[in-house]
Amino acid sequence: MFSLSIFLVGLAASVHAQQVTEGVIATGTMGVTNPPKATMGTDVNQESESRLASINSWEDWCLFAPKDAGSTIGDVEHSVVAWCTKPRNNARVIPDGVITGVSFIKTDYYVQVMAYGDFTKLNIQDGDYGGELDPHGPTGDGNPVGGNVTSNVVDGNTDVSYEEWMSFISYQQVCLRVCTNANSTWGADLMCEHELDVMGCEFVMPGNYQFDGKFEECEAEVAYPPGVYVTAIDGTSTGYSTFRQYYTGVYTADGTPVSYTVGTTVTPSSVQMKPSSSNCQTHSTITNGVGLSVGDSQPTGSAASGSSGSSSTRGGSSGSATTTRSGSGSSATSGESQDGGEGDGASALQAVTFFALAAGAAAVALFH
Ligand SMILES: *[C@@H]1O[C@H](CO)[C@@H](O)[C@H](O)[C@H]1NC(C)=O
Ligand SMILES: *[C@@H]1O[C@H](CO)[C@@H](O)[C@H](O)[C@H]1NC(C)=O
Repeated sequence: MFSLSIFLVGLAASVHAQQVTEGVIATGTMGVTNPPKATMGTDVNQESESRLASINSWEDWCLFAPKDAGSTIGDVEHSVVAWCTKPRNNARVIPDGVITGVSFIKTDYYVQVMAYGDFTKLNIQDGDYGGELDPHGPTGDGNPVGGNVTSNVVDGNTDVSYEEWMSFISYQQVCLRVCTNANSTWGADLMCEHELDVMGCEFVMPGNYQFDGKFEECEAEVAYPPGVYVTAIDGTSTGYSTFRQYYTGVYTADGTPVSYTVGTTVTPSSVQMKPSSSNCQTHSTITNGVGLSVGDSQPTGSAASGSSGSSSTRGGSSGSATTTRSGSGSSATSGESQDGGEGDGASALQAVTFFALAAGAAAVALFH
């Protein structure tokens, strides 16, 4: 079998933006570890297992990070917990000084937070280039299991649960997108596509990544969905191709193991379009009065932002390639994609040398 994932969209159909809410707003119940709804001002509990992240503004957002110190994300994706910039959602609180820069962008289709910091303080092993988290995972219950997200960005007030989100986190960078809208071309599942997990933040969630040391909130253009490229505009139709990350696996058919390959072997060198941001408001820091844990003998409030960023030479743009692939249960491409190096987004891409976008064409899903 051979399927070429090019699809055509009639231009006429795209003249009027058509809003589609299906697959956008979550209809299920909250995961068992979570409060029934997003709640501000809950007790600070740094042992919490709550997995409810709210993504509301440059100073009110959460990420998912490990429960226990020194964890490698690839090993604990299923059990990461929510850490928030403010006491909320019964979740853990990100201590002051951990975050060294934030760029928070609002678009018509998603809200996205990108941040730098010392995430070893949030239990990620030093040097771990991390992994990708999303509400799907091998069991379909999410990575983490029962992880949920809300945002109030649409009206600035009402907490809404969203179905599709994705996050990459490494020891020094995090990016998280919540898909708040969709239309008939781009569903929330495409805008929050979750299978390009070795590609890193700058590829999957493009934006301005030169913000370390700054705390900004901006509006931004809508990016193309991760991996999507425009291939043809001929007056009546627009063609798109989709890059699929390369991986191989084995499944069993009638008792016989059959190997298969998905994706291409050369990585695209850049995204279709890097969205620009506008109306940025810049702030000097982010703080909540919660210090690092007692064991760290760091007085509350002085948790040094200096120390957190000092060992990194990332130049504002590290990639967060990952070692595992969630979702299919197939064997992962694993560590070959790691160069363990510094990586700006570009070198993260180069590191993944066995990926390709076939020239001007489409990603190919090959089963044989
Ligand atoms: C859906 O939204 C995208 C991004 O704004 C846009 O490019 C596309 O034309 C829209 N499709 C429809 C059918 O409105
Ligand atoms: C919470 O997450 C689980 C697992 O992804 C999902 O099944 C459920 O629908 C989510 N509930 C809400 C309210 O988002």
